[in-house]
Amino acid sequence: MEDKIISQAVIGRLPRYYRYLGDLKDSGIERISSQDLSKLMKVTASQIRQDFNNFGGFGQQGYGYNVEYLYNEIAKILGLHYKHNLIIVGAGNLGQALANYVNFERRGFIVKGVFDINPELHGKELRGVPVQPIENIEEFVKANDIDIAVLTIPKDGAVKTAEVLVRCNIRAIWNFAHVDLNVPDSIVVENVHLSDSLMKLSYGISKFDNSN
Ligand code: NAI
Repeated sequence: MEDKIISQAVIGRLPRYYRYLGDLKDSGIERISSQDLSKLMKVTASQIRQDFNNFGGFGQQGYGYNVEYLYNEIAKILGLHYKHNLIIVGAGNLGQALANYVNFERRGFIVKGVFDINPELHGKELRGVPVQPIENIEEFVKANDIDIAVLTIPKDGAVKTAEVLVRCNIRAIWNFAHVDLNVPDSIVVENVHLSDSLMKLSYGISKFDNSN
């Protein structure tokens, strides 16, 4: 199973399955058929079966899916059964919003450090984590087993910061800066552009307008 290449489309759907299964689990539901999951998620039952078949199925004929088991298996596939220590670089509006979002912790993403170049922010606590001068970053990453760096800084500083993070052996970068980072293939980069989502929304509105 480890050697099988899973399409990005399937990987992209797993977090949504994980969220729905988490809600079912929290409501005390122990099992669910692919039909019921399909109705709930508005995805075809065959899509669900095909997606889960990539990982060996999980379902049993006539029983459906064991919610907790499936939830835990998807967590393993997504690597959520490990805790991930992360740092946030850039303690402005976006960095502070992310640092203050408690649900990341529920998923095992622990904000260990926050860094900024602005001395006025140094010492300010975001849910108990003080903002530190950017100069501390290398030592902190190395000493605190940090996997992930979140970049919430303008694009001008992002490339240089990524170089520093590469030197510290960071494993992954969650990049909100509007610039492509040139890092070794061994470092996972997930670029997030909220405006892309907004543009899709705008496309949806114009499509609707044009069809009327
Ligand atoms: P902001 O101006 O409130 O915060 C930026 C913070 O980064 C400031 O505190 C600043 O002192 C700090 N900073 C600047 N250069 C730095 C460096 N080299 N190292 C460490 N800290 C540094 O801006 P906001 O609203 O928080 O946005 C941050 C960045 O994220 C902006 O460049 C913006 O374009 C981008 N952004 C991206 C979004 C996306 O969906 N990808 C959505 C919103 C913002």
